[in-house]
Amino acid sequence: MKKTVAVLAGDGIGPEVVAEAVKVLEAVARKRGHEFAFDERLVGGASYDAFGDCLTDDALAAAKGADAVLLGAVGGPKWDSLPAAARPERRALLTLRKELGLFANLRPAKVWDPLKGASPLRAEIVDAGIDILVVRELTGGVYFGAHERGPDGASACDTMPYSACEVERIARVAFAAARRRRGAVTCVDKANVLETSKLWREVVGRLRDAEFADVALDFMYVDNAAMQLVRAPSRFDVILTENMFGDILSDEAAQLTGSIGMLPSASLRGDGFGMYEPIHGSAPDIAGRGIANPMATILSAAMMLRHSFGLPAEADAIESAVLGALRDGATTPDLGGYSSTSAVGDAVCARIAASGA
Ligand code: IPM
Ligand code: MG
Repeated sequence: MKKTVAVLAGDGIGPEVVAEAVKVLEAVARKRGHEFAFDERLVGGASYDAFGDCLTDDALAAAKGADAVLLGAVGGPKWDSLPAAARPERRALLTLRKELGLFANLRPAKVWDPLKGASPLRAEIVDAGIDILVVRELTGGVYFGAHERGPDGASACDTMPYSACEVERIARVAFAAARRRRGAVTCVDKANVLETSKLWREVVGRLRDAEFADVALDFMYVDNAAMQLVRAPSRFDVILTENMFGDILSDEAAQLTGSIGMLPSASLRGDGFGMYEPIHGSAPDIAGRGIANPMATILSAAMMLRHSFGLPAEADAIESAVLGALRDGATTPDLGGYSSTSAVGDAVCARIAASGA
């Protein structure tokens, strides 16, 4: 199979972790006879420094023209003083999500067996099982509603718009994912206060009755969900939620698994195209030291193979290689190990090269 991947490494630890994921994709290509071409572009603060814009037309066109996008991370203190709309987060990340139509954000949070001890939760809670898929709506809600400051500067307003169509298409993704997992969706909202949440409940409930009667559905307020995630995470299979709640709960779910350095994500638009990135940020405090955990980005590459390229066996091979590296203690300091970023990438590549078939 021949595919082109737009590589947007970004800022901070982005280039370090992306280099390892590219290495792993190359190892998979060698092993399985595929051809992956990598089309690299600057994005985020790095692009601002070079071109005065965190997302150039050229980078956006490269992303649009590729079969999938691999993204590192954007942002850092150096660009924090830019006007809000020009900052890496809004100008690069949010524009990419919107322009590419990536409405469905999948963030799987599971505890890898060798990392059970790394979870901050008590052993009996972890042993009950933590394997959650957060399905976050990614191109609507308060992130993309109007952001306004009153004329006197002393008042401000952010709006959270949602249409029934936007809710229905993300709900469909969540129900379909639940069918391939343990068959249960929890829709997280704030329906005791927000009108958008009431709309979500109506649309999600209707879709479930009409098309997914085999999937269990319950509704939970977001404050309660934040609590249940630490009290009884095993009760969750798929969490379906709007953009900002999903942002917050996915960081919480990530930490339950021991390290945010292990969590991949896929941002999809429904036709197979997607952007893949670790859910951690650019971590400027550890950038350039060769100690960043590349596993979240490597696992994001596995998600790319599964969701965009239809290569589940290759995706499995990467995930098994990651598990093998974890078992053998080939880990970075966030997981208590002593390996460098590139040594972890090499450990995963070696296991792919040595794997059967
Ligand atoms: C994430 C990040 C982004 C978000 C930021 C960097 C804008 O936190 O992908 O979770 O809030 O979506
Ligand atoms: Mg976030």
